[in-house]
Amino acid sequence: MEVVIVPTVQDAAAVVVEAITAALHRRPAPVLGVATGSSPLPTYRLLVTAVGAGRLSFATASAVLLDEYVGLPLDHPQSYRTFIRTHLTDLVDLDPRRLHGPDVGADDLPAACAAYEQLLLELGGVDLQLLGIGSDGHIGFNEPSSSLTSRTRIKTLTEQTRRDNARFFGALGEVPRHVVTQGLGTIAAARHAVLVATGAAKAGPVAAAVEGPLTAMCPASVLQLHPHATVVVDEPAASGLRLAGYYRDVFAAKPAWQGL
Ligand code: F6R
Repeated sequence: MEVVIVPTVQDAAAVVVEAITAALHRRPAPVLGVATGSSPLPTYRLLVTAVGAGRLSFATASAVLLDEYVGLPLDHPQSYRTFIRTHLTDLVDLDPRRLHGPDVGADDLPAACAAYEQLLLELGGVDLQLLGIGSDGHIGFNEPSSSLTSRTRIKTLTEQTRRDNARFFGALGEVPRHVVTQGLGTIAAARHAVLVATGAAKAGPVAAAVEGPLTAMCPASVLQLHPHATVVVDEPAASGLRLAGYYRDVFAAKPAWQGL
């Protein structure tokens, strides 16, 4: 796992954009896994600017959702499909038919989850999966106690996550209880996993994920097993890391050919 510590939120976004740019050039039909929430927003703004300036293109790319609420219509303002369309895919040259997510409206949800796994395979796998981290250490909506090898499935949100996400809704009661999320095993299959976390509130979960034990109680710790995982943090989010000095040294001395 590589930990990249940068001074500001904007610097973190710039590092993530560099990784995404590399991933988009790795295959003729690349696949970007997209997360919602506050953490990726600065990254999405930079991507939109880069596409507008002609420095980057999603023309041959697909985007796949990391997770989706169950029980909201897909065009609901807080559905994750709407979020990603609003903040990224409608603003770049990605073919709208190549934005994919689990069919959370299906009568048979387990079959829809299996179909989503199959789709990811048919697309050739995810080249880069962008991730945020929840205050309880979740990635996607794999809450604590999630199997470290889980695949896409329905999950029940913890009260803490529902409270964290209530800011996007009118009231806590409006936050759905259920979601479909890529599993930890699904996320682990992405060629590059990039977790971005900024702000002091993320210092605890980041430290647990990077330096704590590998445990289902901190689902993000599964990234310790990933052969190519990058954790991009600003200084406040890095403040709980014991080896912060070492991570800074590694990044400063990184050979240019290595890339992210
Ligand atoms: C979003 C997702 C979640 C968020 C996490 C952090 O698609 O899967 O894991 O990344 O809850 O959310 P923010 O970035 O809003 O703090």
